[in-house]
Amino acid sequence: MIYGIGNDICDVRRIRESLSRHGERFAEKILSDAELVTWRQRSERWPERGVRYLATRFSAKEAFSKAIGLGMRMPMTWRDCEIAKLPSGQPVIRLHRGLKDWFEGQGLSAHVSVTDETDYAASFVVVERP
Ligand SMILES: CC(C)(COP(=O)(O)OP(=O)(O)OC[C@H]1O[C@@H](n2cnc3c(N)ncnc32)[C@H](O)[C@@H]1OP(=O)(O)O)[C@@H](O)C(=O)NCCC(=O)NCCS
Repeated sequence: MIYGIGNDICDVRRIRESLSRHGERFAEKILSDAELVTWRQRSERWPERGVRYLATRFSAKEAFSKAIGLGMRMPMTWRDCEIAKLPSGQPVIRLHRGLKDWFEGQGLSAHVSVTDETDYAASFVVVERP
């Protein structure tokens, strides 16, 4: 049974602006430890890839916050909602700390899809309860 759905569209230009204004501090606020490693690798090779990576994570986390019906309110936090990847490339949601406990305590599971074009990143999340 579907528990909730959420989507979000993110302006890549705003992410670029925030990154140039606040530097790494902005990425550190949004990304989990594992995501930060990927972000640094991508940014080192080509800064624009880092911007796009951060924009898609930003939109997926917001979409997830809507699908669970909380928005960005505890136990939902940016860093506890990680968008990881399967070997096939498919994105998956991996939760941490209090958010993981809350989510798993209700027997929920999530599905996520992300996309981006020149100026926008967008995501869609479905949360299920068996
Ligand atoms: C959900 C949230 C992350 C989206 O913020 P945003 O990126 O600025 O806005 P978006 O345009 O992407 O999305 C806004 C839509 O999210 C939806 N939304 C808001 N709160 C939501 C929630 N708890 N669960 C699911 N969807 C929610 C609404 O449909 C809203 O559109 P509407 O105001 O026209 O009805 C943000 O609103 C939030 O964290 N809300 C919870 C905290 C809160 O409500 N603070 C204010 C207290 S009055």
